[in-house]
Amino acid sequence: MSSKEPKAQIPRHVAIIMDGNGRWAKQRGLPRLKGHEQGAESVRAAIRACREAGVKYLTLYAFSVENWSRPRAEIAGLMRLLRTFLRDRAQDLHDDHVRLRVAGRIGDLPASVRKELTRVVDETASYRAGTLILALSYGGRAELVDATRAIVNEVTAGTLAPDAIDEATISAHLYLPDVPDPDLLIRTSGEMRLSNFLLWQLSYSELYVTDVLWPDFREEEFRMALSSYAGRHRRFGGVS
Ligand code: IPE
Ligand code: IPE
Ligand code: MG
Repeated sequence: MSSKEPKAQIPRHVAIIMDGNGRWAKQRGLPRLKGHEQGAESVRAAIRACREAGVKYLTLYAFSVENWSRPRAEIAGLMRLLRTFLRDRAQDLHDDHVRLRVAGRIGDLPASVRKELTRVVDETASYRAGTLILALSYGGRAELVDATRAIVNEVTAGTLAPDAIDEATISAHLYLPDVPDPDLLIRTSGEMRLSNFLLWQLSYSELYVTDVLWPDFREEEFRMALSSYAGRHRRFGGVS
């Protein structure tokens, strides 16, 4: 490795597919919602671990477009947890100067959740110590569909020439165009799939899959993921 080569150290952006809440509950003979409740504690742990390590962006896959197919009671429970989280944890974001942002088809969420989200997003908009992004009613394909519609609207309006469309144009029409692509993707509970998460943005992210279920993924587990990342050699298709 040449001394000039940038070393993989602390990722600027970590994205997490927080999976395994249901299995965690099932192993204990508890209702699935108990797993989601414990998962909310792991969210706090991940935010703390990012703050301590100096990770600037943390994106959490909290609810996918496909998750709307779950039983109504589970969806209601998840939405209630989200509201509680926003109400109870907003002060942590203020204390740490962390900005909250959301990615997804937010219009699909219940009005009460949208209201709470908008409030915290607005109140924290000026903070720059870190950014917490909640992917809610999020789908990677849905995001690309939404970006395509926006691009086509500009072409139709005559403000964008089809020949001028390049990769930067696509990136610029995603939900959060100014957020850098994730350096590290973590998936808990062992599943080796993306489940429609950040399809465009993850093209060169380092992957870390652990069998640990999300409710058990606390600071120590997070540090292990960071240490695995620090040992990676990112080539981006080049030779070295
Ligand atoms: C992840 O845990 C939480 C959400 C998808 C909202 P799951 O609920 O998917 O847990 P498993 O995969 O059934 O164990
Ligand atoms: C991915 O987990 C979505 C979130 C973590 C929000 P799922 O549990 O929904 O994914 P699949 O069904 O295992 O692919
Ligand atoms: Mg799951």
